[in-house]
Amino acid sequence: MPISRRRFLSGASALGTTAAFGLTGCPHLPGRARGPVPPGTPASAALVPPQLPTIREAGTSRNLLAGSAVNVRLLQSEPAYAQLAQQQADIVVAENEMKFGPLRPTPDTFFFNDADYLFSFAEKNGMQVRGHNFVWHRQLPSWFASYVTSQNAQTVLVQHIETVGGRYAGRVQSWDVVNEAIQVSDNLPGGLRNSPWYHLLGPGYIDVAFATARRADPKALLCYNDYGIEGERPEDEAKRAAVLTLIRGMKSRGTPIDAIGIQSHIVAGPSYNCGAGLTRFMSEIQGMGLKLMLTEMDVNDRFLPSDIATRDRAVAAAYDNYLKLTLANTDVIALLTWGLTDKYTWLNNEDARTDKLPERCLPFDADLRPTPAYMAEVGAIQSVLPRP
Ligand code: XIL
Repeated sequence: MPISRRRFLSGASALGTTAAFGLTGCPHLPGRARGPVPPGTPASAALVPPQLPTIREAGTSRNLLAGSAVNVRLLQSEPAYAQLAQQQADIVVAENEMKFGPLRPTPDTFFFNDADYLFSFAEKNGMQVRGHNFVWHRQLPSWFASYVTSQNAQTVLVQHIETVGGRYAGRVQSWDVVNEAIQVSDNLPGGLRNSPWYHLLGPGYIDVAFATARRADPKALLCYNDYGIEGERPEDEAKRAAVLTLIRGMKSRGTPIDAIGIQSHIVAGPSYNCGAGLTRFMSEIQGMGLKLMLTEMDVNDRFLPSDIATRDRAVAAAYDNYLKLTLANTDVIALLTWGLTDKYTWLNNEDARTDKLPERCLPFDADLRPTPAYMAEVGAIQSVLPRP
């Protein structure tokens, strides 16, 4: 059954623990000692109330890989940011630094410094790493359009995956081999997106990418990753159907694929909910023998009023409902939020609120203090069965 608007909204008050810590920010306790810290205080030490687990600890207790996207430059330049990631994430993914554009300053060269740094940071801290991503229609380098033709596109694609996948082979938990290949409104066969790769190579680019990724890094789980498949809106249902058709086709052709990444950029508020459509989709994927991962979760609050307490309540309720719905499926093996702190969320740039207030979409606020969303995330993880 879909989550009704009433249940969706009442979820907030059901978060007893959230209420206990106040809704505009939980106590922020450096070194896990008691006592308030003024806003703006950097996260010089653990900021999670001592009686609560970190996201990392909660995930570990359920055999769920839990973590977030990180920004490599911030890991290097902001000790408090790096410390928060160390403390909270069991798995990390580069928000941008391992995309095609950032890795490819010219057709003949690769820039690996940032990705190398991420791997060494993660390995030093006992974290796993996701690879994001080999093939996407966005963040391609400026040379792409003039250099890549139908004649050389397959070589460019294969060489990119062989070089990047090969460099980090054996150290990647999972690769988003193809990202966001479906866009039903583009009206192409199978609901495929009219991306530069489709334009250059036709639908076959997807199979080529996955087969190459398997050869380059046989140990990594290979994922298809997409957004807009979470909700109960007709367009979400249409996109889910197209993804299922794509995956069935890949399976029938023997194309290697191990998991689906459900990005999980969801929306707080009355006109959006997630429910039976997503549950059914997840069962279908599971039925094909694939694992599931929630790869980029955040909760957009742009349809909510400015008041912070109201937004925090609804965002926490959305985390609670969404995670209980999805994590009920024990083939969901990983959960990553798209960032940890509201200080650096992409939503402020790409999907900003009309009142221009910063979004409150992630488990830590702009001062790196845990929010009700953090309470909801940890609580939801703790409420589910351990992954086998
Ligand atoms: C976003 C980053 O967060 C931004 O910094 C960047 O400008 C654009 O890309 N789906 C994805 C991610 O798969 O790679 C996107 O990341 C967010 C949506």
